[in-house]
Amino acid sequence: MQASNDFYIAPSILSADFTRLGEEVDAVIAAGANMIHFDVMDNHYVPNLSFGPMVLRALTRRGVTVPMDVHLMVEPVDDLISEFVDAGASFISFHPEASRHVDRSLELIKNGGCKAGLVLNPATPLGVIEHVMPKLDMLLLMSVNPGFGGQTFIPYVLDKVRAARARIDELGLATRLEVDGGIKIDNIRAVADAGADTFVMGSAIFGTSNYAQTLASIRQVLSAPSEFRLA
Ligand code: DX5
Ligand code: ZN
Repeated sequence: MQASNDFYIAPSILSADFTRLGEEVDAVIAAGANMIHFDVMDNHYVPNLSFGPMVLRALTRRGVTVPMDVHLMVEPVDDLISEFVDAGASFISFHPEASRHVDRSLELIKNGGCKAGLVLNPATPLGVIEHVMPKLDMLLLMSVNPGFGGQTFIPYVLDKVRAARARIDELGLATRLEVDGGIKIDNIRAVADAGADTFVMGSAIFGTSNYAQTLASIRQVLSAPSEFRLA
């Protein structure tokens, strides 16, 4: 399992108060979030519509100090990759089913100076990305079907997390392993023990009244030694 100080907690702003988005982002970073997850939905690849590069640019211009982890739930991807590179993304991840030419789209992200990732839906097997694993700065495994915050974690994804961790380690890669969807204080340790090092949490953070207390509890659960962990 990864060292706990290597963990990224990435609040998904899809669950934030959109009327105070800048303050919400500042508040979760001040509370201990070390990445911001930016869910882009086009009402085509997923049945929901969220926000675009202008909103990311507004946040980066505000002076956000942590990596912006852009999750593209869009089809096609290439034009929006370029717009999010320009808007100040740190990581840009997309669903392989949404690109006709996955390797080319990954190169587009990397040539733009951003870190590149692929996102696998719960039913998409790990083998889909086998040939481009060495190119990935981030592998994002969905633990819900994409499109909405506040959904329930899909347990069978844990097997894929374990297999992905084993493959990343076998290849000696520095790829971050991110899990996204339905992660709560009571299941995050199982996700970490399966090998994830980056955790997207939307409703589990923005649905609470004290972000510092919430994030401190999350990090406490992650840092507790396995053998002495409370049941
Ligand atoms: C769903 C998004 C997730 C979601 C996470 O399509 O990709 O990032 O916002 O929200 P929670 O943590 O509430 O499941
Ligand atoms: Zn997401």
